[in-house]
Amino acid sequence: MQLRLLSLFTLITVAMPAATLQKSDFGKTPDGAAVALYTLKNSKGMEARIITYGGAIVSLKTPDRTGAMGDIVLGYDTLADYLAGKSYFGALVGRYANRIARGKFTLEGKSYNVHVNDGENALHGGIRGFDKRIWTARALPDGTLELTYRSADGEEGYPGNLTATVTYTLTDDNHLRIHYVAVTDKPTVLNLTNHSYFNLKGAGEGDILGHLVTLNADQFLPVDAGLIPTGVMHLVDGTPFDFRHPRTPGERIMQPDEQLKLGNGYDHNWLLIRPEMNAGMLSLAARVEETVTGRVMEIYTDQPGIQFYTGNFLDGTDKGKGGKAYNQHAGFCFETQHYPDSPNQAKFPSTELKPGQKYDTITEWRFSTK
Ligand code: GLA
Repeated sequence: MQLRLLSLFTLITVAMPAATLQKSDFGKTPDGAAVALYTLKNSKGMEARIITYGGAIVSLKTPDRTGAMGDIVLGYDTLADYLAGKSYFGALVGRYANRIARGKFTLEGKSYNVHVNDGENALHGGIRGFDKRIWTARALPDGTLELTYRSADGEEGYPGNLTATVTYTLTDDNHLRIHYVAVTDKPTVLNLTNHSYFNLKGAGEGDILGHLVTLNADQFLPVDAGLIPTGVMHLVDGTPFDFRHPRTPGERIMQPDEQLKLGNGYDHNWLLIRPEMNAGMLSLAARVEETVTGRVMEIYTDQPGIQFYTGNFLDGTDKGKGGKAYNQHAGFCFETQHYPDSPNQAKFPSTELKPGQKYDTITEWRFSTK
């Protein structure tokens, strides 16, 4: 299989001193807290801009096949827009990315109710998840940006004082590496991801339905009406969820398929094919190619799942950078993560983090052109 051949392990090598890192102001929240903007730039001119509010990537400039730089992530121009935003543009999401059914779970014999914010379910960490917190930034000598957030015991209903540290490293070969580490002082559940929306043509340049997507997955998780996995691991064979060879989302998104109707498009988790977990080893989860600009993005991760979301809830009310409206399907998300609702699904890999354990995971976005 094409993609499986490609998905050979890659060993993480120590990054060469990578990007330059510059700090500027991004404004203040209404209660006076300062938000900083960090600009990472490598020797090839690739640039990532990240704010301390939500640890959000607000712009990501990569070259097209002629070498022209373009900003390929959806986002806003101002902090006020990020504070009001409901789409998680570019943000770090936690404690629990995606949904927990009815916000309830049992851990080590104790029942918990976390804040619900998506109908009857908890989504992306609740009412004020990690995407709506200010992270503490530190510039590391190699140009890496380190962000730390301390989530108090009981915040949004989750147990344990949790310290999450996320680093963004931009390498000279146009890779953006996101490294997540966390520790807790009580058993808790944890599922961190980044919620960037990409459009390889450029943010605000129409929709992503014609991008060529390959997903290294034989199975996906069907959902119920609340977008909670039913627990079934469904083979992709013969379904519009088969992306084992390059296909555009637009080709089948309108098919009269029950799962596409429930998701209002693609909004599902795929079970990544990956060899035995090995510390420091990443494998290829997905590849996206945009034929007009020639931009190619590959997603490498050590996570078991990937949420492929085609921006189904975008409806043009979000006015993005430069005043451009983001209509439905203006961007796609590839959220590398554990499966949704794992705390309630015994068959899914566990998302429990215990005191003394270290949550440690890496996702890398590799950009090139064709
Ligand atoms: C995730 C979810 C979607 C939606 C978006 C944010 O991708 O799976 O259902 O909630 O986040 O709008």
